[in-house]
Amino acid sequence: MSATSRNNSVTLTTLQEIKRRGEKFACLTAYDACFSTILSEAGVHVILVGDSLGMVLQGHDSTLPVTMKHMIYHMECVKRGNRGSLLVADLPFMSYSSETQTLENCAALMRAGAQMVKLEGGAWIANTTRLLAERGIPVCAHMGLTPQSVNRIGGFHVQGRDTNQAQTIIEEALLLQEAGASILLLECVPRSLGKTITEQLDIPVIGIGAGPDTTGQIMVLHDVLGVSPITPKFVKNFLAESTSGIPGAITAYVEAVQSGAFPAPQHCFN
Ligand code: KIV
Repeated sequence: MSATSRNNSVTLTTLQEIKRRGEKFACLTAYDACFSTILSEAGVHVILVGDSLGMVLQGHDSTLPVTMKHMIYHMECVKRGNRGSLLVADLPFMSYSSETQTLENCAALMRAGAQMVKLEGGAWIANTTRLLAERGIPVCAHMGLTPQSVNRIGGFHVQGRDTNQAQTIIEEALLLQEAGASILLLECVPRSLGKTITEQLDIPVIGIGAGPDTTGQIMVLHDVLGVSPITPKFVKNFLAESTSGIPGAITAYVEAVQSGAFPAPQHCFN
C-alpha cells in the first residue's frame, strides 16, 4: 500500500492485507478535528483517540483521570476531521469492569465514531474481548506496558525483560488472539519480544517502543511533534527535520514507518 489511503478508507481488512504482504502501517494519536484531517490526509492508516490525552492535553501525570465523557468528546471531534483513517478509541481506566458497563461504554464510543476499541490487559481481558468480538466490536488488546496499571507496575518501565515475564506476555497474546482480538498493541518491550510475538500471531501487531519488526508503529502525536515535556527513548521528533511544517513531519513519519527506517536501533530496547 502506498504512503496514503487518501481516497480509500482504511479498514481492518486493509491492515490484515498489509500484514499478509509483509508491509508496514503507520498509526498516530489525535484528539481533535484539525489534526485528524492532517493525519488522515498524510496517509496515517490508524488514528487512535488515546487516553494519553490525560497527559498531553490535560496535564495529568497518568491516564487514570480520563473519563468516558472526555473520550466521547474527543472521538466526536476526530471523527469530524477524519478523511479515511481507521478510528480507534481507548476505553479509559475502570470503564470496562463489568459486562454491562463495557457494552454500554463501547456502544457510546462506536456511536461517537470509533471503528475499534482498545483496552489494556492480558489474560483477564480475554472474556471481555470475546464478549465484544461476538457483538461485532473489533478489539485492539494493549499489552506490555499498560499505563492504566502504572501504580501496580510501579512506573513506566519496560516489560518482558526476563524470560518468565516474556513467556507470559507471549502466551497471553495468543490467548487474546484466540478470544477474538483483531489487533495487538505492544508497548515498551524488548525488540526481540516484539519480533517473536509478531511472528507468532496471525493478527497485526502495532508497536510503540517494541522494535522495528511489528506490523505497525504508533506514536503519541505530541511526541512526533516534539512538544511533549518528556522524551522517552522510543520517541523521534519528526517536526525537527521537516521542511514543510506539521504535514511534512507526519508524512515523513508515515514514510519512515513504511520503509522500516523508524524505529532505528537507538529507539529500541534490547
Ligand atoms: O493512549 C495512548 O495514546 C496509547 C499509546 C499506546 C499510543 O495507548
